[in-house]
Amino acid sequence: MADVREGQAWQALEKQSLLVRAELAKGYALRRWFSEDPGRFERMHLRLGELLFDPSKQLVTPEVSRLLNALAEERGLAPAMAAMVKGEPINLTEGRAVLHTALRDLSGGPRRVGGQDVMPDVRAVLAQMREFVTALRSGAWRGATDLPIRDVVNLGIGGSDLGPAMATAALQPYWQAGLRVHYVSNVDGAHLHGTLADLQPETTLFIVASKTFTTQETLANAHSARAWLVGALGQGAVARHFAALSTNAKAVSDFGIDLRQMFAFWDWVGGRYSLWSAIGLSVACAIGMDAFEDLLRGAHEADRHALEAPIAANIPAQMALIGAWNRNFLGLQSLAVLPYDQSLHRLPAYLQQADMESNGKTTTQSGDRTQWPTGPIVFGEPGTNGQHAFYQLLHQGSDVVPADFILVAHSAWATALNHPIGDHHELLLANGLAQTEALLRGKTADEVAHELQQAGIVGDAAKALVPHKIFTGDRPTTTLLMGRLTPHALGRLIAIYEHKIFFQGILWNICSFDQWGVELGKQLAKAIGPELRGETSGDHDASTAGLIAEVRRRRNA
Ligand code: F6P
Repeated sequence: MADVREGQAWQALEKQSLLVRAELAKGYALRRWFSEDPGRFERMHLRLGELLFDPSKQLVTPEVSRLLNALAEERGLAPAMAAMVKGEPINLTEGRAVLHTALRDLSGGPRRVGGQDVMPDVRAVLAQMREFVTALRSGAWRGATDLPIRDVVNLGIGGSDLGPAMATAALQPYWQAGLRVHYVSNVDGAHLHGTLADLQPETTLFIVASKTFTTQETLANAHSARAWLVGALGQGAVARHFAALSTNAKAVSDFGIDLRQMFAFWDWVGGRYSLWSAIGLSVACAIGMDAFEDLLRGAHEADRHALEAPIAANIPAQMALIGAWNRNFLGLQSLAVLPYDQSLHRLPAYLQQADMESNGKTTTQSGDRTQWPTGPIVFGEPGTNGQHAFYQLLHQGSDVVPADFILVAHSAWATALNHPIGDHHELLLANGLAQTEALLRGKTADEVAHELQQAGIVGDAAKALVPHKIFTGDRPTTTLLMGRLTPHALGRLIAIYEHKIFFQGILWNICSFDQWGVELGKQLAKAIGPELRGETSGDHDASTAGLIAEVRRRRNA
């Protein structure tokens, strides 16, 4: 069914949304639902290993849940997942399989693309990564002047940066002392030079991470990094100080990187799904290969769950369905990702690419225009920083913003350092839990008036203040409670989000694995570069032409 709105379940959900909106109009619906149904949390939460998924604070009634599960059936979520895992060419516009799940399958069984088992190649690259990482971390890998490597600099952007940078930051307690891993992505020279200012060429290794090895930003950074190294140590040093992660051996070799230091992956690994491939090498340098394989195992656990759990008990499917409920039936446009763990401070940025580059689309699989909203606007910050920035809008703004709260029961640092660092972690968790409760329950006018009275504020002063202090509540949240932030738990969490995004693409009948929308800007930038240097002139709208002229004038002044 090309028009997703034609299905019975979709249409029944549209009717249900009128009933739910009527409930919301009465005010404080979630409070009522929780008090009328004491089993709501018990019935709705799901577990996968140590992860607890609680969507009970979403604006979902039992009937909506039932219909969402029917929608999953109608849109074929389960068969779509089976087709992806089987290696079918589901990335239709690029004619490719989508098999990042194979990268984290350490079970030893075959996984096929076009009839060919890809696992021998996957295992060979993992073995190559292990050998390199072990040599680097033990100091056996020496730079050109026979010194061990102290700093690894990953040069990549998008999926070749965000996933590894997020995972490296998340797993800091697992880092090896004395070995630092840096990420440089922006083509702004300040990013590279700011990073190199602190480093010594003799003890620095560059990892050029680029699936295509043609990405302008990454290649500009790689050329400048090579010039910095060669300026200090000579051309011969490149072999000991550069590695590449890519699908494009020719371009790697043309750049001058020894192919023995190239770690391959394949076109069936999408850029934003590549953390699990050789693109994870920088993570593995930071945390070691055993921990990296634990990350893969955690993701594999989520893969099996996504594939095998019935829809009603399937965490990524439920996340996807509830997200679609918010987006398509309640008209909510965004999603806040709020990790209550500083180590996850790059998670919102990572999920922005994973979600918005995958599902920020308006063309159906068959080439028509979607007549329904698709991917939400994703943003976030770690708690409690977000509380002091944009939570005002979450609580009282004119837009209702659904939010995912990610809480971690045990502080990774307390575990790693074997002491609890005061009561920071309780404060953090208390804030996260309190926010979800506040967003659910809000505060009524009567409650505000009572509080003011208790504080001795009565009469006109109270009357003037009450409307400002009301919270309408009914702001939907999901809580994902983790036990500890281990590599395994992180892998599980990220894969759950990946599968949620995939399921939503199926619900919306869009291709989640291409990214044509990033091409136009790239194309135009290629033309504008020479114009800024005065080498060519182009045909632009008056604004762009005026700005180009102004930039030139200022730079030439
Ligand atoms: O942003 C577009 C994109 O193609 C992403 O999908 C990808 O992760 C990123 O650029 C980097 O691409 P590459 O790894 O080929 O340098």
